[in-house]
Amino acid sequence: MISWRKHYRKGLIAIGLLLSTSASIYGQGDAKNGEKLFKANCTACHALDKQVVGPALKGVVDRLKKEQGLDTDWLHKWIKNNKELRASGDKYANEVFEKFNKTEMQVFPNLSDKDIDDILEYTTNPPEPVKDTIKTGGPGTNVAAPQNSNTTNSVVIISLLAIAALLVWILLKLRQLVKMGQDEELAESNAKQVKSFSEIYAKYHLVGKGLIAIIALLATYGIWNWLMWIGVYKGYKPDQPIYFSHKIHAGENKIDCQLCHSSAKYGKVSEIPSMNVCMNCHRTISEYNGKYLEPGKDKAFYDGEIKKIYEHTGWDPEKQQYTGKGTSPVEWTRIHNMPDFVYFNHSQHVIAGEKAIINSFNKKNPDNKIDVVCKACHGKIDTMNVVQMANDFTMGWCIECHRTTEVDMTNGYNKEYFKNLHEKLKKQYPKDGGKITVDAIGGLECGKCHY
Ligand code: HEC
Ligand code: HEC
Ligand code: HEC
Ligand code: HEC
Ligand code: HEC
Ligand code: HEC
Repeated sequence: MISWRKHYRKGLIAIGLLLSTSASIYGQGDAKNGEKLFKANCTACHALDKQVVGPALKGVVDRLKKEQGLDTDWLHKWIKNNKELRASGDKYANEVFEKFNKTEMQVFPNLSDKDIDDILEYTTNPPEPVKDTIKTGGPGTNVAAPQNSNTTNSVVIISLLAIAALLVWILLKLRQLVKMGQDEELAESNAKQVKSFSEIYAKYHLVGKGLIAIIALLATYGIWNWLMWIGVYKGYKPDQPIYFSHKIHAGENKIDCQLCHSSAKYGKVSEIPSMNVCMNCHRTISEYNGKYLEPGKDKAFYDGEIKKIYEHTGWDPEKQQYTGKGTSPVEWTRIHNMPDFVYFNHSQHVIAGEKAIINSFNKKNPDNKIDVVCKACHGKIDTMNVVQMANDFTMGWCIECHRTTEVDMTNGYNKEYFKNLHEKLKKQYPKDGGKITVDAIGGLECGKCHY
């Protein structure tokens, strides 16, 4: 289970950092170029508006100046070689390193002063305006898993193994008996044994067959149960504690998926946003005035659902302040939930695989093109009032896509890691004019998807 609370705490730190920022004009570099450099070098560990591995970097120039009295000179030194700066005994460099539990930031000796100015310009004035910063915290988000436990799984597996072993043992025994009966040069003792076995068999074979039938039935039931557990949940659509509509948010209001599911970019999981993220907008949006109404729902219904956000966070929309009386965290029911023995990483697909997946999907579905990578797997979430699983999310589904999706060898990740391999693969896979699909880079290896 993912520790949502841990992330929530991280979020609070980021919020604290954000609180102290204020927009200003840094005015020394080229933000466009800075953005490119930032995305290429820094996004593995930093985002603008939230803490990832390192702190949020929006407005870092201002923040360090105000809080620590540090100038851009310091930032140049830090970004170029934070280790050297720490080794020199610099006070804040060592402080921030401690604060982040001694997590090493990479050194960037290759970045020129102009590059760094451009990056800092980008963190000061990102071209696309980032949403309002978050002012106050509320309770975090909890996610409840569907009601399956690991223990059930292990018990089923162990029982299946035991049943299989028993069946094998019975088979071997029977074979032995048959052999003994056929052998003409049987020792006398054996003959006796066979005779007595035959007598026993004649007497009890019905009981034996009955037992085997029961075991077979149990095994079938076990396997069926297990397969159900392994979970083909396509279409699974639980009731959620707040009636949150993706159609209204991502569809009608065109809110970017990653504004709420921002961690999809960076890691293994793509979290459900915390109440703080909701409050970014709902501090000001306290009622529903949209034109779209789902059949059977009205404005009063939606207003009531928005009110639940305030109950959870303890926000008083009249006085526009927090009362400190928030109720428990929201417990969203998880819809997608791979078994624990599967390793699935969002960033591998959302960052490295983005272009490849969109291109391949649009080629296969010319009448149903997608613009956002998420939709290749999750379907048109922006048309769903209630999220449901759009694919069966089985192993066959993963493999099918890996077999048929051509890898984007121009993305930064693959260019770097597969430079030599690429040429080799091109020769190895001359079919399709050297097209390299995910299976060729290891996308069918058991160990890549299974722990
Ligand atoms: C491998 C992860 C990693 C990468 C890549 C990385 N950083 Fe960092 N950065 C960190 C960590 C972790 C910290 C917190 C201090 C520490 O533990 O060293 C940090 C701290 C910082 C700070 C100090 C911020 C503050 O609030 O005091 C700045 C500025 C910074 N990084 C800029 C950058 C820039 C610019 C890039 C890209 C050129 C970059 N970092 C790439 C991990 C990384
Ligand atoms: C305004 C915030 C917001 C936006 C924007 C948003 N989501 Fe969500 N998403 C949520 C919340 C809250 C939930 C949990 C409640 C639910 O399942 O509806 C969720 C749930 C999901 C789930 C199911 C998670 C599970 O439990 O398995 C998927 C998949 C998903 N979102 C994908 C997307 C995609 C794709 C987009 C863009 C088209 C998107 N979301 C845009 C807030 C958002
Ligand atoms: C980027 C801004 C933004 C964020 C973040 C956001 N919302 Fe909304 N929300 C809206 C807008 C815009 C509307 C529609 C208001 C209108 O049309 O009058 C809306 C409407 C709603 C409604 C009524 C319609 C419906 O979906 O049932 C609910 C409930 C709601 N939001 C809950 C949430 C929750 C819960 C979160 C956090 C997970 C959240 N919102 C995050 C902008 C946002
Ligand atoms: C290659 C297919 C694929 C793509 C592309 C993809 N997802 Fe997922 N997503 C999955 C799978 C598989 C799971 C189930 C993961 C699990 O249970 O461990 C999942 C789970 C989720 C969840 C539930 C929480 C979690 O991490 O388990 C959310 C939310 C989500 N995805 C949002 C997104 C968003 C937003 C995007 C686009 C930025 C996206 N996904 C792109 C396959 C994909
Ligand atoms: C829509 C197509 C698609 C689906 C569905 C899909 N993948 Fe992938 N996957 C890709 C692409 C494209 C890449 C290559 C990304 C890159 O360029 O590195 C990839 C790469 C991977 C890798 C890394 C392989 C390597 O050798 O580095 C793993 C592991 C992986 N996927 C696991 C999964 C699992 C598990 C599922 C099912 C739950 C899944 N994928 C479903 C398209 C898909
Ligand atoms: C691209 C990712 C991927 C690769 C490669 C992969 N698996 Fe799987 N496997 C999965 C996923 C996802 C599931 C879970 C399916 C589900 O929940 O329905 C799974 C489930 C299983 C199961 C449970 C039974 C089932 O079919 O649901 C077994 C056993 C298994 N895999 C064995 C293997 C072996 C052996 C290999 C190597 C030949 C392999 N897998 C390669 C993704 C992968």
